[in-house]
Amino acid sequence: MGRLRVLSGVQPTGALHLGNWLGAIRNWVDLQKSHETFFCVVDLHAITSPHNADQLSKDSLSTAAQYIACGIDPSECTIFIQSHVKAHSELCWLLNCVTPLNWLERMIQYKEKSIKLGDNVSVGLLDYPVLMAADILLYDADLVPVGEDQKQHLELARDIAQQRINARFGSEEKPILKTPKPMILKEGSRIMSLTDGRTKMSKSAENDSSRINLLDPPDLIKKKIKRAKTDAHLGLEFGNPERPEADNLLGIYAILTGQNNDSVKSECSQMGWGKFKPLLTDATISALEPIQLRYKDLIDNPEELHKVLQEGREKAESAAEGTLQRVRNALGFLSI
Ligand code: ADP
Ligand code: TRP
Repeated sequence: MGRLRVLSGVQPTGALHLGNWLGAIRNWVDLQKSHETFFCVVDLHAITSPHNADQLSKDSLSTAAQYIACGIDPSECTIFIQSHVKAHSELCWLLNCVTPLNWLERMIQYKEKSIKLGDNVSVGLLDYPVLMAADILLYDADLVPVGEDQKQHLELARDIAQQRINARFGSEEKPILKTPKPMILKEGSRIMSLTDGRTKMSKSAENDSSRINLLDPPDLIKKKIKRAKTDAHLGLEFGNPERPEADNLLGIYAILTGQNNDSVKSECSQMGWGKFKPLLTDATISALEPIQLRYKDLIDNPEELHKVLQEGREKAESAAEGTLQRVRNALGFLSI
C-alpha cells in the first residue's frame, strides 16, 4: 500500500494569522513525512470576493514562502499555485454542471460572506465550494486537513464525488472519484479573535488587532496582546462558556508552549490577566521568531521560490491529469 494522499490549501489574502497556522498549516507539517502531500496556494479562490489585482501575485508568492517558513519542506511535499494547474478550473466546470444549486445556497460560509458583501456577491463566491471540491478530487486525496469551519465544504466535496459523479456515471466496483475525508485536529482547530472570544480569528475581519499575523513584528504582537479583550473574573480557566477569551488565550498559550491544558491550568489558574499577558506575549514572539527569520530569507531570494513553484506545478499537473481524463471520459466527452 502506498502512503495516503493529503491535499490542502489556504487563500493568498495577505498575511496568514495564528488561526491559519495552528488550525491548518501546523498539521500539514506533521503529515509530510508519513503521507504523500500536496499543498496549494488557492489564488482562484482569492478572487471570489473583490480583490486587488496589484497585490495578488505578491500575496501568492508570500503565502508560498510562509508555508515553507512554517516548516513545509519542498523536498517532501508538492507546493504549488492553484491557478498554475489549469485542471482545477476545468474540473470545477464539469462538477458545476452536476451540482444542485441549492447545495451551494445553504453553505454557511457563503451565507456569512454574502451578507457582508451585499451587492458585490459574485457567481464565483457561490461556486467557491465546487472549486474547492475540484481541488481535492483532482488529486484523489484521502485526507484534507482543515480547520473546523471548512467541514461543511468537505462534506459537499464528498457528496459531489459519491452522489453526483460515482453514483451517476460510475459503478460501485469502479468509482471515478475517490471520496476524501476531513482531518480536523481538535486542538487549535478554532482560534478565536483577540477582540471577541466568540468569533473566529480571520483574515477578513476589518480590525487587524483582532488577529496575530505570522509576520507581525514583536512590538506589534505585544501591543495586540496587551489590548486583547479580557474579563473581570479572578484567576484564569479553560472551558467556562462565560469566559471565551480566557479559554482562547490559554489554549493558544498551551499550543505555543507545547503543553497540555492540565499543565497550563496548574501554571496559570491563579494568575490575573496582568501576569498572564506578558507570558503569552513572550511565547508568541518566540514561536514566531524562527518563522519570520526563515521567511525573510526566502522572500529575499525569489528565484529559489520560483523554482520550487515551477517544480510543484509540474508534479501537480501530472497528478491531476489522470483524474481529469477519467471524469471527461465518464461524462462522455469526445477524445481524439
Ligand atoms: P480566514 O478565515 O482567515 O480567511 P481561510 O478561510 O483562508 O482563513 O482559512 C485557511 C485555513 O486556516 C483553513 O484550513 C481554515 O480552516 C484555517 N483557519 C482559518 N481561521 C482559523 C481559526 N481562527 N482557527 C483555526 N483554523 C483556522
Ligand atoms: N476553502 C479553504 C479555506 O478557506 C481553502 C481551500 C481551497 C482548501 N481549496 C482547498 C482547503 C482544498 C483544503 C483543500 O480555508
